[in-house]
Amino acid sequence: MLQLDMNSTGIKIQPTMYGVFFEDINQAADGGLYAELIKNRSFEFNEPLMGWKQPKTQYQSENPDSGYATVFSNPDKTNHNYVRISVNNDKVYQLVNEGFRGIGIRKEAYYDFSGILSKGEGNISAVKAELLDENNKVVSSAVIEIKDSGWHKYSAVMKASETVEKGKLRLTFTGKGTLMMDMISLFPQDTWKGRKGGLRKDLVQKLYDLEPGFIRFPGGCIVEGRTLANRYQWKKTIGDVADRELIINRWNTEFAHRSSPDYFQTFGLGFMEYFQLAEDLGAAPLPILSCGMACQFNTGELAGLEELEPYVQDALDLIEFANGDPAATKWGKLRAELGHPEPFHLKFIGVGNEQWGPDYIDRYAIFEQAIHSKYPEISIVSGSGPYSDGEYFEYGWKELKKLNPQLIDEHYYKSPQWFLENAARYDGYSRSGPKVFAGEYAAHSGSGNDGSKRNNWEAALSEAAFMTGLERNADVVCMSSYAPLFAHIDNWQWAPDLIWFNNLQSYATPSYYVQQLFSLNKGTDLLRIRENGKAMIGQQKLYASAVKDMLKKEVIIKIVNVDDQDKEAEIIADHLAVEKKMSKTVLTALKPDQTNTFGQENIVPKEYGEPIKKGKIFTAIPAKSLVILKMKYR
Ligand code: AHR
Repeated sequence: MLQLDMNSTGIKIQPTMYGVFFEDINQAADGGLYAELIKNRSFEFNEPLMGWKQPKTQYQSENPDSGYATVFSNPDKTNHNYVRISVNNDKVYQLVNEGFRGIGIRKEAYYDFSGILSKGEGNISAVKAELLDENNKVVSSAVIEIKDSGWHKYSAVMKASETVEKGKLRLTFTGKGTLMMDMISLFPQDTWKGRKGGLRKDLVQKLYDLEPGFIRFPGGCIVEGRTLANRYQWKKTIGDVADRELIINRWNTEFAHRSSPDYFQTFGLGFMEYFQLAEDLGAAPLPILSCGMACQFNTGELAGLEELEPYVQDALDLIEFANGDPAATKWGKLRAELGHPEPFHLKFIGVGNEQWGPDYIDRYAIFEQAIHSKYPEISIVSGSGPYSDGEYFEYGWKELKKLNPQLIDEHYYKSPQWFLENAARYDGYSRSGPKVFAGEYAAHSGSGNDGSKRNNWEAALSEAAFMTGLERNADVVCMSSYAPLFAHIDNWQWAPDLIWFNNLQSYATPSYYVQQLFSLNKGTDLLRIRENGKAMIGQQKLYASAVKDMLKKEVIIKIVNVDDQDKEAEIIADHLAVEKKMSKTVLTALKPDQTNTFGQENIVPKEYGEPIKKGKIFTAIPAKSLVILKMKYR
């Protein structure tokens, strides 16, 4: 029998309790959330024509004499390269872009095609753009006329006649002479909130449906970079997309289950877009910045303490960019010029991702001093390294505590068993020390980064059991996020992930629904639910937590049954004056290794209504299930 104590514990559930962690890993940004469909649109990849091919067509033999493309580079610009197309003797020359593992095209949908072009010598005065299906059948076509030899942006709207998952874009040039081109772009018009050059609608919708309390960005290891030069620098990610300097993605090949040499960051999804996204989601923005240490799993390159000034300045300027008054501050003015005069209400900033050891503490202390002397109201998230325990972890906590941080970021990618065994992890944490941000976690069932670690129900259920422990300790744990968030089915480096997508569709994993059920039912105040005076942390293979939502006047109980037997729960409560019925939401699966996939989401929450008799709750908790009970109180 479970005893629910209706007297408030006095512990508030923070609005940031359940959030999302975004990193450009697994093609999450370019070719994912950022809806651009052209890979290497600006010819800036290490191999400038990567992603572009001269097709064998009726016009060209294998050794085409119809023309060629030449790359020109200007090292002084941030957009270094452009391409000159040369067409020979009234022939037809073509270039095909393969997209990010293909281009997803929808029947009857409209697409904005554009390019920055300049006419050269001769008589090439038009470019034909065509969308092709997998068999090179044309499903959309448009022609743009080039007026003169100045660089201008040209655009055309294209409408598709078919749905194609792995399409291509073909450009055709006819005549004799040259034409220069840069920033060849194709966006669906149907983006999130219909924004031009915006974000992929179905993917943002999935985030929106999580009602996340915060969004952490831009990572992850890409914050740190393999080298310092390759770290994420927010100032290079704002302003005109054509001028955002591209870098190689830290996940380009390393740790990849397959090679991804075409993985770069165009920063079309940059800091302005991240802040805008946070605002759209109603989530607190949580940017994480480099602390002057490259990824310690790679080069571990260090900026000397005397070289740290630009890194610290980036943090200070970011706070001003997010919150500064446009009339009184340089960076606030820039934000307004970029279209957002209102502040983004930044309250949190992260210093370093998974750094550890004295090098990190030395650098963190400098950031802390600089940030808090200017912005004492900002909460700083510091890292405890990639470890959930052990020497480095203990050291990090011990030293950070001396520096009085607000939140310490803990990461754990562990087995489902570990998650069950750690449901009481935070019960013993000091109530007077820093708060915890469980910033990256996921249960990994299976071994090896070979695809066997897909998001199955066993993993999701163990996360749910663990999350009752996060919730029970809401006075210590103020933020948490599953990681990573997104993965493209044909280009991923890390699994499992919360949301999987291809070029047209996406699906939510069982772990997604666990996150969603906790987030949508987080309530406002923690209640105690116990058996014989003890929290439910695995007795009879049950885990439980309870909250009250003071605004909606609801009591919400979460029970996780990890047993393969159904259980009967009897819950009694002091002064439980509730209405005569409750809603019961059950998330379960037929087998532990079951998962969801495209078009087949079998593991989804199901909601029922159940009566409550004489203020007592008797209800079945099915084997291997997460159950949410919700009732109105008076
Ligand atoms: O989430 C994937 C990676 O795991 C992150 O980039 C890093 O912070 C952690 O090691």
